[in-house]
Amino acid sequence: ARIAVFASGQGSNFTALLEAEREGRLGKARIVLFVSDRPEAPAGRRAEEAGVPTLLLRPKDFSDRGEYEAAIVEELQRQGIDLIVLAGYMRLITPVLLSPFAGRILNIHPSLLPAFPGKDAIGQALAYGVKLTGVTVHIVDGGMDTGPVVAQRAVEVLETDDAASLAQRIHAAEHELYAKVVAAWSEGRIELDGRQAKTGGL
Ligand code: GRF
Repeated sequence: ARIAVFASGQGSNFTALLEAEREGRLGKARIVLFVSDRPEAPAGRRAEEAGVPTLLLRPKDFSDRGEYEAAIVEELQRQGIDLIVLAGYMRLITPVLLSPFAGRILNIHPSLLPAFPGKDAIGQALAYGVKLTGVTVHIVDGGMDTGPVVAQRAVEVLETDDAASLAQRIHAAEHELYAKVVAAWSEGRIELDGRQAKTGGL
């Protein structure tokens, strides 16, 4: 399966996926394209170091969001991309990108959805005072962190935690889980029936 990873930021999940592929833990998935909306994103350097071709498009160079996404879709289709993996891509996806890739876009979010959607889920969890939070991989639909859940991992909130220490354990859980989900997807082990994703116990 030909995978495009989208990222706007640090790229730690992207790096973890590259590492998983190198180590043979990504199933039949091949990361063949990196897509970013931010030239200054550190994730771009990871792509360069790993020799992954990069599509860098700035939304402000396009007349609207639809035009921007249409340009992305054209390139994805040209390259025969099977699956889009969002890894800290900080934009809502519109139907222009969603329709041709319906059910074939994954996102990872640093909470146990539906708790704490949106920005700064880790800060939200700390502020709320939950004892348990975690990470979620889900199929992307038109909403903000609302699509069908594919897999989740719980992460305990410790009394000694601050945002940095909790984020560190959440990211470790993300890196492990995302590679497993992408591998499962690439091997046809994820079956979607409405909101119910059957994964054979991911
Ligand atoms: C991750 O916490 C992910 O869950 C969220 O954005 C963050 C990206 O981190 N969607 P990184 O760029 O992969 O380090």
